[in-house]
Amino acid sequence: MQSRYFDVYGAWQQDPEGFWREAATAIDWFRQPDRIFDPEQGVYGRWFVGAETNTCFNCLDRHVAAGRGEQAAFIYDSAMTGTKKSFTYAEVLNEVKAIAAVLADLGIRKGDRVVIYMPMVPEAVFSMLACARLGAVHSVVFGGFAAQELAARLNDSQAKLVISASCGLEPGRVVAYKPLVDKAIELAAVKPENSLILQRPQLVVPLDAERKEFDFAEMVNAARGRDVDCVPVKATDPLYILYTSGTTGQPKGVVRDNGGHMVALLWTMPNVFGVSPGEVFWAASDIGWVVGHSYIVYAPLLNGNTSVIFEGKPVGTPDAGTFWRVVAENDVKVFFTAPTAFRAIRRDDPEGELVENHDLLGLRALFLAGERLDPETLKWAEQKLKVPVIDHWWQTETGWPVVANPVGLGLMPFKPGSPTRVLPGYEIDVVDDAGAPVPKGVLGNIVIKLPLPPGCLPTFWNADERFRESCLEEFPGYYKTADAGIIDDDGYIFVMARTDDIINCAGHRLSTGSMEEVCAKHPDVAECAVIGVKDRVKGQIPCGFLVLKNHVSRETSEIAAEVAGMVRNEIGPVAAFKTVMVVPKLPKTRSGKILRGTMQKIADDMPWTMPATIEDPATLDVVRETLWKNGFAHEEKSVVAPAG
Ligand code: COA
Ligand code: AMP
Repeated sequence: MQSRYFDVYGAWQQDPEGFWREAATAIDWFRQPDRIFDPEQGVYGRWFVGAETNTCFNCLDRHVAAGRGEQAAFIYDSAMTGTKKSFTYAEVLNEVKAIAAVLADLGIRKGDRVVIYMPMVPEAVFSMLACARLGAVHSVVFGGFAAQELAARLNDSQAKLVISASCGLEPGRVVAYKPLVDKAIELAAVKPENSLILQRPQLVVPLDAERKEFDFAEMVNAARGRDVDCVPVKATDPLYILYTSGTTGQPKGVVRDNGGHMVALLWTMPNVFGVSPGEVFWAASDIGWVVGHSYIVYAPLLNGNTSVIFEGKPVGTPDAGTFWRVVAENDVKVFFTAPTAFRAIRRDDPEGELVENHDLLGLRALFLAGERLDPETLKWAEQKLKVPVIDHWWQTETGWPVVANPVGLGLMPFKPGSPTRVLPGYEIDVVDDAGAPVPKGVLGNIVIKLPLPPGCLPTFWNADERFRESCLEEFPGYYKTADAGIIDDDGYIFVMARTDDIINCAGHRLSTGSMEEVCAKHPDVAECAVIGVKDRVKGQIPCGFLVLKNHVSRETSEIAAEVAGMVRNEIGPVAAFKTVMVVPKLPKTRSGKILRGTMQKIADDMPWTMPATIEDPATLDVVRETLWKNGFAHEEKSVVAPAG
């Protein structure tokens, strides 16, 4: 079948406002928009100005009213506890109303911020929807982040309430959340007024009513049966804030609106993912990330799908066949995860023997995103699952795919290494550092022409100027993605690397700059550099280089372990900061710039040239030797590229 992609992209190009006006008819509005797009509002314009709606209404109420009440909205499958539970749309609506009643009793009103710091349990998702129902703004914080990161988010969002759980469950350990919440509140300058804590049977914690700590289940049970109406919000009002790594220790609060977000997400379900209402869609991610927000919670519900909430890992819970079990048991039609999960599965089950134990005939497509899809992983996944494997590229800021091979419009030919073509709504250019377009096939900065389509961030939370400076100023007229890549002669996009200090570790976006900030706090550390180095499973892992102060005579291994511990304590275990090396001096240019790029090439066995401006060439030899002793940079393979 010929792909309809070109027709649809062409239609969008001809009349972008008409395209989104038409897409918006799939949403229920309490008040229609005055304008589809108003270039005068916001930082670069706003979508669906004047419209009023409610995201929870569109996710739940209207489906129940239309007869979808008895269909499962969510299937909860915890590979950590063996629990399986299904919730119909009608049941979810009742739960969400009860939670909304509790929040309202705690004084949460339209526009108030609520921080949600929870493991992958249904109550986390219901809490997000309860916020949406009240017009409150949720900010979900991934459970793998430490107290300090949680405190930074409490401060920046000025949250009135924190919703958490007694614990998260990681293989082999119960992660006590309450002490982390307590510490975060202690550290935060702006303290939430109340905390709601979900007690899990694996760890029950004492709650102190005087400190305004309340039991989630008790409160919700007491509120069950209460009717709480959806609060009308403007299409341009914020639905949520999701903090993501920026180039400094201060995370960026990506804002998502209500109207444009719904229109864009709903458009993607049939057109990009090729799923129809009623079918089961599973994004194996976490609600702490954008993939979880968009494709565990909002898009599947908007489209009337059944979404899987999975608590567990692709391997070790209990084995590398867990994903196939969940797909088979629930008749998952379209599955979405990160390439790193497949690399972990392949490491444990190289021949894919566990795939054979399950009936995956219902599965139609696998979508992978979050990091570059290496051709080996792509090939393995295709061979084992025997369905199209679709690489697609996007980021927290965009909220939905920018580049993909859209299943619903009809697949186009694949090119391994490329997520295929730019989707309607986006126009992409590749430019050099001065902003001039580079020829086809040449590597440059990937930029998206303004205005960004509905669903993409309008700004950072309370930080229009920071948004302008970090995303819009460098390339006037464009949004800077901070990814580098190429567009080939056929219009296929290849995303190659980040242009900033962000690394991608196990599908998680991390800032090496913020890790350096923590390392530098150790009293024995004079200087440090953190780079991302290649890892077989996680894609990249952070690797720290420390230069110690002159007077230090302690064991270097002890100091390295302390520094690793500090990063774990201050950023969180998710930083996976375990590789720390001590060197006498960091390689620098004569002007004092640390040569992180060259160090990374050496670590990854990539060709590199001795920078002409290097202060002391011997420092790179020491780095190479140190990496080699630590199992990186195989000396014989490390190539010095010819100069020029
Ligand atoms: N709460 C508390 N701790 C957490 C956590 C959470 N929600 N998530 C991860 N951690 C901890 C882990 O327990 C681990 O701790 P450890 O150092 O004590 O072992 C550490 O953070 C690193 O976690 P992770 O990077 O997830 O590594 P892992 O070895 O546990 O698992 C993978 C590796 C590849 C299996 C796993 O990362 C994975 O499934 N990745 C897919 C990611 C994904 O879905 N990304 C979303 C984009 S689609
Ligand atoms: P996040 O904001 O956490 O979703 O991370 C977004 C970043 O992950 C992007 O800017 C890219 O650097 C990277 N990324 C996501 N998807 C892909 C992909 N399909 N190919 C290459 N890189 C990707």
